[in-house]
Amino acid sequence: MLELIELNAVSYTLIALAASILFVPLFLSKDPAIHPFILQRQSNVAPVRKPKESAVYRSQATPTGYPLISGLQLEGEKAYQTRDGDIRDVWKLAKEKGNGKIITVRGSRKEEIDIETVDKWIHAIGAFVTAVQGAKRVAVYLPNDIENIVFSFASAFYGFTLIPLPCPADPEELKVIFRKTSPDFLVASAGTLPLEEIGKVHSLKHVMLVVEKASRHMDWSATSDMEITSSTFHGIIENPTGVSTPPTDLDLDGISLVYVYKDLMNHWETENFSQKVLIAGVAGQLAVLPKKEALTPADVFLPVSGLWEPFTRIVTYAALASGSTLAINSVAGPSTDLSTACAKVSPTVVVASPNTLLETLFQTQGSMLELWHTWIHWFQLRTLSQGQIPHGNWLTRINDYARPKLGDPQRLRIVFTAENGGVKDSAPLNSPDLADLRAMLGANIIYGLTSPRVAGAIAQQNIYDYRIDHPLIKPNRIKKIARKCAHFGPPMPNVEVKLVDVDKYKADDVPEPRGQIAVAGPSVIGGQAEIGVVGKWRKDGCLAYVLDGLRPNEDKE
Ligand SMILES: *[C@@H]1O[C@H](CO)[C@@H](O)[C@H](O)[C@H]1NC(C)=O
Repeated sequence: MLELIELNAVSYTLIALAASILFVPLFLSKDPAIHPFILQRQSNVAPVRKPKESAVYRSQATPTGYPLISGLQLEGEKAYQTRDGDIRDVWKLAKEKGNGKIITVRGSRKEEIDIETVDKWIHAIGAFVTAVQGAKRVAVYLPNDIENIVFSFASAFYGFTLIPLPCPADPEELKVIFRKTSPDFLVASAGTLPLEEIGKVHSLKHVMLVVEKASRHMDWSATSDMEITSSTFHGIIENPTGVSTPPTDLDLDGISLVYVYKDLMNHWETENFSQKVLIAGVAGQLAVLPKKEALTPADVFLPVSGLWEPFTRIVTYAALASGSTLAINSVAGPSTDLSTACAKVSPTVVVASPNTLLETLFQTQGSMLELWHTWIHWFQLRTLSQGQIPHGNWLTRINDYARPKLGDPQRLRIVFTAENGGVKDSAPLNSPDLADLRAMLGANIIYGLTSPRVAGAIAQQNIYDYRIDHPLIKPNRIKKIARKCAHFGPPMPNVEVKLVDVDKYKADDVPEPRGQIAVAGPSVIGGQAEIGVVGKWRKDGCLAYVLDGLRPNEDKE
């Protein structure tokens, strides 16, 4: 009898492996998250079009003839009215609906800060910047940290212009940016800027330093320049000066936020956002998720990309307005490691740059050393192509490759990311990349298209769009396909999008109309913009780049 069962542990594992691969997917196959038919017609297409232009495409939520989403639809003064609200309402909603705290991570230190305390800081800083200093244009050179959040909302309540700078940046580059943006007030972490250089910024009148707790006993008078006065962040919030009643007559069309970025020609450029445009961006992002996936107070939201990017900021504001707990980690940036950023926080929702996601993808692919790792991944991609995010089973859990660790407990459910059209350092993600990432992270990935002149996304993939544009041929096809940008889904409910004839790209092209992407709506600066990149309409109503119309140097790969 005993000889008969001379199966050792290895054989058992092998049998179990074979059985599971054959049968488990059969038992577990569930309905797709969305009916495939819905993914085949994702846009509302206007019935008529002008010559030399494609028809106007819109979100199915705001079809032709309906008003585009322009705001938060808050209760108005009269019962039947609603109002758009502004960035101040984002903060009010965060206080009302949220869990009363913001989580900050700096290095190994994690802290929870009471939202009422942050509220007091916002008013202390707002009053100091405006009433005491009389400043109008405030440059913020800070990582994703609580002081950055405080300045953002102080700007909304007290009406000064916020100029978030890419951080860290090269001092030479900063000089160019200062000349271009002429701030009169600068806030920076102590020791991160060469202050002699700052003295040469003619517009500057005041420098505020953010000083780490351990260094606060030192003298932090910022410059030797007599013309420029200085203060510290902790000094002001500990002893608020000035009357902290925010003005009631804010100009919501005035410049609230300046976006500083490098265009494809490698030049620094700026765009001016008003509160009205920003709130339309936030509202679009709030409206686009299906109810089942909406951001809620149960979510912990972490921006992994820098808050100086409007897309990151818009999604962060949407999370705050939904009552989600905001977690910020000062390591955030355009190429931050996803696991490092998530480690102490266990976020449920993140916004990350395509660069960060690509890095995560390559690292994880590098850990697929065994044959069965590739098999597991292949089966998970198959689940995905059948319309479900694969969450793994006992078998994949013990034999798995090294997946990115996204905190303990791991509970990531949504990743927002966007291609920034017309901006230098945006890396395109292709369809297999997105599928690989969905399988590796076990989370939804929402890929969109943004542009410097638009608050939030122009178009964004349906959260359940797991289709893979290239057939799943064999498990080791990875890396073989050129980095061709994936499609961007249908237009957001706050914009309408059309393609305008340019060069050889025509709206009459068959089967897919092509042309320069033109966007209009309340989330667009000036109401409308051509974003300088060539796109096409796919048959399913999704917007995509025309490969050779985009970045001549990149698609030869
Ligand atoms: C932004 O506003 C500033 C100040 O009013 C102005 O000088 C600048 O030209 C504006 N930038 C753009 C791109 O419109």
